[in-house]
Amino acid sequence: MKLQAYFTPAEVKATDLTGRVAVVIDVLRATSTMIEALANGARTIFPVATIDEAVRLGQNLDRTATLLCGERKSVRIEGFDLGNSPFEFTDDAVAGKALVMSTTNGTRAVLCAADARRALVASLLNLDAVAQAVAEDGGDVAIICAGREQRFALEDAVCAGLIAERVRRLVAQPVRRNDAAAVAVLLARRYERALLRMLRGTAAGRQLVDAGLGEDLALCADIDRHRIVPELHDREISI
Ligand code: MLT
Repeated sequence: MKLQAYFTPAEVKATDLTGRVAVVIDVLRATSTMIEALANGARTIFPVATIDEAVRLGQNLDRTATLLCGERKSVRIEGFDLGNSPFEFTDDAVAGKALVMSTTNGTRAVLCAADARRALVASLLNLDAVAQAVAEDGGDVAIICAGREQRFALEDAVCAGLIAERVRRLVAQPVRRNDAAAVAVLLARRYERALLRMLRGTAAGRQLVDAGLGEDLALCADIDRHRIVPELHDREISI
């Protein structure tokens, strides 16, 4: 099995994804929030890149069963129903609803995986479930980190390394990693016992603390909180 990691979506060429299982990670916070929302009963999530696209799509859906969600600079987009804090996505708020979501990096990263054979959504919240799904699939893997505005983000790389390690332990065949995956595994070993401390020290973590959203870090560090594997089909993410 080939397992390639990409620290930003900009590194991914369309041919890198052909026939592969893509795993998309945005630990702070888009994919963590998607997982929390779907675990709490959201019916489906439409990831979109821009605010305009979210508004337009929202107008074409049943407004009573649809929530517009997302952030810019970590803060809820004006006029939207929810921001991007996983704490907002309770079962009361999201059960049975379609979510149209636009975030700075995470929703774009998910869309970039649309050409893969399968595109799975991952974070620290569903590590084991994702590793299991990847191992059972058995095909080559592309782990795509959302990063921050096309730059490296430590929290996504650590999560990528944790998934890579778990997949390696689960599959019988040898796993051939690219250099980025090898570095991600080293980072995962370095930080796996201090995930919350690691998140607090990252640029994204500091931005959340500065925005008064520091409590989100503990939730996003809650490893294996859920056993679901959200998957993108035709631009919609569901379980
Ligand atoms: C993103 O997509 O960049 C984020 O998830 C940022 C955030 O939640 O603050």
